[in-house]
Amino acid sequence: MKEIIGVIGAGTMGSGIAQVAAQFGHEVILVDANADQLDRAKSSLEKTLTKLVEKEKISAAEKIEISSKIRYATDLNELTFANLVIEAIVEDITIKHTVFKTLELIVADDCILASNTSSLSIASIGSVLNNASRVVGIHFFNPAPLMPLVEIIPAVQTTEETLTKSVELIKSWKKTVVVCKDTPGFIVNRVARPFYGEALRIYDEGIADFATIDWAMTHIGGFKMGPFTLMDYIGNDVNYAVTESVFQAFYYDPRFKPSFTQKRHREAGFLGRKSGRGYYNYAEGSILPTPTEDMELGTKIFNRILCMLINEAFDAVFMQVAKAEDVDLAMTKGVNYPKGLLQWAKEIGYDKVLEQMEALFAEYGEDRYRPNPLLRRFARG
Ligand code: NAI
Repeated sequence: MKEIIGVIGAGTMGSGIAQVAAQFGHEVILVDANADQLDRAKSSLEKTLTKLVEKEKISAAEKIEISSKIRYATDLNELTFANLVIEAIVEDITIKHTVFKTLELIVADDCILASNTSSLSIASIGSVLNNASRVVGIHFFNPAPLMPLVEIIPAVQTTEETLTKSVELIKSWKKTVVVCKDTPGFIVNRVARPFYGEALRIYDEGIADFATIDWAMTHIGGFKMGPFTLMDYIGNDVNYAVTESVFQAFYYDPRFKPSFTQKRHREAGFLGRKSGRGYYNYAEGSILPTPTEDMELGTKIFNRILCMLINEAFDAVFMQVAKAEDVDLAMTKGVNYPKGLLQWAKEIGYDKVLEQMEALFAEYGEDRYRPNPLLRRFARG
């Protein structure tokens, strides 16, 4: 008998998670406080499934089967028989606390209570439960049906049993699972910070413009998208909020310091593609700026950003956030990096990466550029 899955929040993430669970044969109850949102989620799922049928990814019969697996509800009481509930509502700790407290009174004692939060601590979410041993973070990436990575985060209260059951279940949905410590940004949103932050810093110092930095990272670095194109895609409001929350959560560690340039873009409403203008102008007829295709400059930019990313990946391993192989898996499967950062460091030579970090640290004298002790150890061999 397949587990019954409850999903709370029928927005971007919740509806995607519900789709995945239904595709893997679970009965799903998708709950949202807003009935209109449930209607939107239902019609958007219908469209998605129709496209999958057209592309011959699923049959027409499978489409009917998947659709019939999902029940839509506005009342949390519908979750009585759920074995796992994944919460994907608004990122607000007070609202999440209210939902988790109510939920605990509805579900069975052995129902796992998970949150898809990106930035809140799982320990704090679980703190309102009488039995917090069943709380866990199950963090999908957007779009949930397509992105293979799921970060699973045990809180200090979580039992081994809750963790094992969660890992097995999410693996059965053919997802790549990485387990990580309950620390700000988990793996991906922590390790990826320099991709944006160092690119903005390079721009702020006047070393290169947006287009040239993007060109360096895609053309020389092999990344699918440059940092400014990606920030415009994610939205400067969303990306800035993540940076700021990671910065604050790390007790204002300068490694994660946000940029005024991004803040001003956000304040001006230059949010990216969704507002028609971000670092680039997306208005009809506008031409994207051309980069300065200077290999020497581009290589310098790419090396600086890559070394900062590698240093951050080493820090995640050093601080036991996750195993080295999971950090590499997370970055390749969660954000499509061309290579795992630790593998990349190995290929470049740990001593070379350290040399670059030391040069940056010597040049700027800022704690932001301090080489990680584990990188030093690896460089010593
Ligand atoms: P969203 O804004 O698209 O959807 C949230 C939904 O929750 C809305 O439909 C809203 O009506 C509903 N809701 C709000 N309060 C509720 C309540 N008390 N009871 C029931 N339903 C309620 O949000 P999104 O983007 O799907 O994010 C949801 C969660 O997933 C957040 O915790 C976010 O940090 C996390 N997340 C978001 C990602 C993204 O790229 N959007 C990626 C990974 C995690």
